[in-house]
Amino acid sequence: PNVLLLGPPGAGKGTQSANVAEEYDIPHVTTGDALRANKDMETEHGTPRSFMEAGELVPDPVVNEIVAEALGNAEGYVLDGYPRNEDQVEYLADITTLDAVCLLSVSESELVDRLTGRRVCDECGANYHVEFDQPEEEGVCDECGGELIQRDDDTEDTVRERLRVYHETTEPVIEHYREAGALKEIDGEQSPDAVWDDLRTTIDEAI
Ligand code: AP5
Ligand code: ZN
Repeated sequence: PNVLLLGPPGAGKGTQSANVAEEYDIPHVTTGDALRANKDMETEHGTPRSFMEAGELVPDPVVNEIVAEALGNAEGYVLDGYPRNEDQVEYLADITTLDAVCLLSVSESELVDRLTGRRVCDECGANYHVEFDQPEEEGVCDECGGELIQRDDDTEDTVRERLRVYHETTEPVIEHYREAGALKEIDGEQSPDAVWDDLRTTIDEAI
């Protein structure tokens, strides 16, 4: 299936995308990870790093190209982190057809706690949380033994800016899919396992 996972920063898109990718044996396409892997790439608009560390969106041409390449010959995918504005919605509609559009809803205060407490594996990108999802051994990834680090954009000030950009620029994207009758909303504030149960049911019903 072609699955789109929407939600504010910290809603659990990355965490749940890993489940979706495994369950349906499809690639996880994430603009955030792709940009983090190419932070210092020189483009005519500057490097992704300058935008990401400020919590701003990276310019559309850079992000659109990443998505076009990743979706190009994929047979099914779970897309996370894109589209984030209305131009990206149009671009996506031109290159693919979506089977399931799912929104993870989480309250603002919970998002701030999740993001400022998040730790990610430096090697494989797995997500942890200092309180909600601790590894077996502090600071070490369960999956691969890599070191757990804090993302540059998970400081409180940058988190607030990312949430502001989400409300201003990405919420209209949610409204677009809602008005099209395509949006399935999931309570993202439950435990990760409960969110996954609801998400899997929603995708199974849509495909
Ligand atoms: P991106 O990497 O996409 O970040 P984001 O959208 O801000 O989302 P996050 O990765 O922070 O959160 P998530 O929803 O994946 O949550 P997670 O599962 O980790 O984008 C980063 C930057 O890249 C942007 O700011 C922008 O600059 C640029 N960019 C990316 N895409 C772009 C685009 N299309 N256009 C332009 N620029 C773009 O979970 C968060 C934490 O909560 C974790 O610690 C996790 O363990 C924990 N957690 C997860 N689920 C639960 C639960 N149910 N209960 C308790 N804790 C939980
Ligand atoms: Zn790891």
